[in-house]
Amino acid sequence: MVLVVDFGAQYAQLIARRVREARVYSEIVPSTMPVQEMLARNPAAIILSGGPSSVYAEGAPRLDRALFEAGVPVFGMCYGFQLMAQTLGGTVDNSGAREYGRTDLHVSKAGSTLFEGTPAEQQVWMSHGDACSAAPEGFTVTASTAVVPVAAFENDEKKLYGVQHHPEVMHSTYGQQVLEHFLYRGAGIEPTWTTGNVIEEQSAAIRAQVGDKRAICGLSGGVDSAVAAALVQKAIGSQLTCVYVDHGLMRKGETEQVEKDFVAATGVSLKVVDAEQRFLDALAGVSDPEEKRKIIGREFIRVFEQAQAEIVAEAAGEHGEQPVQFLVQGTLYPDVVESGGGTGTANIKSHHNVGGLPEDLEFELIEPLRKLFKDEVRMVGQELGLPEEIVQRQPFPGPGLGIRIVGEVTKERLDLLREADAIAREELTAAGLDRDIWQCPVVLLADVRSVGVQGDGRTYGHPIVLRPVSSEDAMTADWTRMPYDVLAKISTRITNEVADVNRVVLDVTSKPPGTIEWE
Ligand code: XMP
Repeated sequence: MVLVVDFGAQYAQLIARRVREARVYSEIVPSTMPVQEMLARNPAAIILSGGPSSVYAEGAPRLDRALFEAGVPVFGMCYGFQLMAQTLGGTVDNSGAREYGRTDLHVSKAGSTLFEGTPAEQQVWMSHGDACSAAPEGFTVTASTAVVPVAAFENDEKKLYGVQHHPEVMHSTYGQQVLEHFLYRGAGIEPTWTTGNVIEEQSAAIRAQVGDKRAICGLSGGVDSAVAAALVQKAIGSQLTCVYVDHGLMRKGETEQVEKDFVAATGVSLKVVDAEQRFLDALAGVSDPEEKRKIIGREFIRVFEQAQAEIVAEAAGEHGEQPVQFLVQGTLYPDVVESGGGTGTANIKSHHNVGGLPEDLEFELIEPLRKLFKDEVRMVGQELGLPEEIVQRQPFPGPGLGIRIVGEVTKERLDLLREADAIAREELTAAGLDRDIWQCPVVLLADVRSVGVQGDGRTYGHPIVLRPVSSEDAMTADWTRMPYDVLAKISTRITNEVADVNRVVLDVTSKPPGTIEWE
């Protein structure tokens, strides 16, 4: 296992993902973790991430020198590189030699462990204010840039390596190769980790945890809960029951997909609760976005609790002393890291995974995906034989189409939006854009009407908004520059095929300032 020491600013997660792409298992630990504790975890190598600090800043994170003297291979990147240089007696100046963005790196030592087989001149991604001007004793300088004399160094004997740039960022052309050179050549690690191992390991762990008891899982229609459920189903079979609350706010075909395709692929026992009318009644007359969200969240919990009580009662009747004791959740590794994860990482935000489940549930949790990143979860889903439409599904908010109707939510409006959304999704898929676009909310401006002309007559209909966005993690996003011909096709089809819509508009706002969803 490789430990990635997190010096902040979200670089660590990307590094951990890149290490796993190199088929080596990695975990993130905070830089505040004592070095002895890091070493006690027996890492095959340690990577020091970049971070927002200057090594000269007051209170900047430091590292105990013991980390470099334990015989464990270490790779420092950006801030990690400077910290390594400073801790081991090199020189780091804050002389204004700053570089941000794409930079040309000159590799000065052909055949170095990190740069072997890569060109002498290569593009890297830099983001630093301080710069290393002298490497520590025993280190060989292996690269420089126009402004930084020591942009990379290595000490093969001690297995210590460092680069000023960010090899984990895709703009560093040979970044992945440099990282793999460290892992395979520098640290001598074999690339054997796969998501297949995860399925086997997790299945065994889940069987041991659950024994002959029973578990339930709330399915939302999203990737995470579907893969978590499929994995648990593989482990404990009929001891698992899934609950799917159909709140009537799903997109066209989604409920059927869960009911038919998911069940067919997994053989899971599924309880579908048809709660459409209940949600429509609760939402009647409400236009305020926050109020809508609260109502949907509240009703969801009530319906789920009721379903769960029924399952527990049935199970108790059937099995006597084998009640439902476990709840499956699709918590992912980024949620764990950002929520503190028990590793001492700062608590940035607390996540609630399955559509806002109540906090006082008296269940033990099964979270088989808590060590995985999203792309790995998709791979696991694929290996488990889940349909492509579920595994590759783009994010969809828990409150569903309820927060994509600006105005009151009614059955008629939901049906109209479902049609428009289905057309947009169909055309995006046909154009091969599903993987380029993070998600494309389709929004109905139900309280707006504008004049149009269709056939020979005047119309007075609603606008539909297309909101295609590109993003890495939904925290920030940019509007996607979609091909005009695809936009034209979607617009023509929606205005022709969806009654009461006479205008299609494109949202060209990034996030910030606009959120991805309109409500
Ligand atoms: P915003 O609109 O905040 O959305 O930019 C960021 C991402 O989160 C999704 N989203 C939600 N997901 N429950 C969810 O499970 C919610 O209440 C919710 N609201 C927004 C949104 O689709 C986007 O991917």
